[in-house]
Amino acid sequence: MAQPLLITAPAKLNLVLRVGARDADGYHPLASLMVALDGLADDVVLERADARRLECPGAPAGADNLAWRALDALEAHTGRGLPARITITKRIPQQAGLGGGSSDAAAVLVGIDRLYALGLGAQALERLGASLGSDVPFFVRGGTQWATGRGERLAPRALPGDLWAVICGPVAALATGRVYERFDALNPPGALDTRPPEGHWADASWVGNDLWPAARSLAPDLEHAARTLRGAGAVKVLLCGSGGAIAGLWYDAAAARQAAGRLASAIAIARPMAPRGADGTTT
Ligand code: C5P
Repeated sequence: MAQPLLITAPAKLNLVLRVGARDADGYHPLASLMVALDGLADDVVLERADARRLECPGAPAGADNLAWRALDALEAHTGRGLPARITITKRIPQQAGLGGGSSDAAAVLVGIDRLYALGLGAQALERLGASLGSDVPFFVRGGTQWATGRGERLAPRALPGDLWAVICGPVAALATGRVYERFDALNPPGALDTRPPEGHWADASWVGNDLWPAARSLAPDLEHAARTLRGAGAVKVLLCGSGGAIAGLWYDAAAARQAAGRLASAIAIARPMAPRGADGTTT
């Protein structure tokens, strides 16, 4: 029997998240600079087995888990059974806007493709990922990507300068749907600018998240967390996805580490990660 395979499932940061008006299908079009993070990740271990088994302490162990549905999607696509034992060690908090569940699902797609030598390749895996959730194709690819559509249309981008992120929280567990509902109630929809931003992140006014006012109104403690991060010297402060984690950004590692050491709510210090290699690794 093949050796177990360990796939790192990183968290992500949206350096910019622009949100357009809700479409007829109920979803909002997005434009986002998405960055996979080195320093905060789940571990996904995959082994061929006689029957499917998912172990994921702290999260559902069946079809409510996107990792389970990723395996369903692979079986449907290939028309064959792909029994595997999947063991997920969660470190990325849930309902935090850090993409943990989507990242685990992408790790299953990439890992099972390798474990069973399916030879599906990144494009097919991204397409399957898009059927599971809008962030999944990003996690199949990793690195830094300009994401449009619902987040599934990707174009690789250079990182706009070195950065270190101190991730705090989640300050509150925020359900994505509730945050978008509040966004609709608060914001008269403007035209969505889908052009990627230019320039270093720290000098730029484009770093930001359109969901911030909605998240802040649902979870006022976010405001306090943002002030604390600013007080600790963060160059920028950013809501993670639809919340409720929040990140402070620094130019250099030493200053970020020092700040993280002082912040009781800091859960990780992370920096951007290179795109996923052909073998599924994320070095
Ligand atoms: O992606 P997910 O299914 O977790 O999203 C939950 C809800 O958030 C959706 O049902 C939708 O109401 C809202 N949403 C949205 N636009 C997006 C993503 C999510 O309106 N781009």
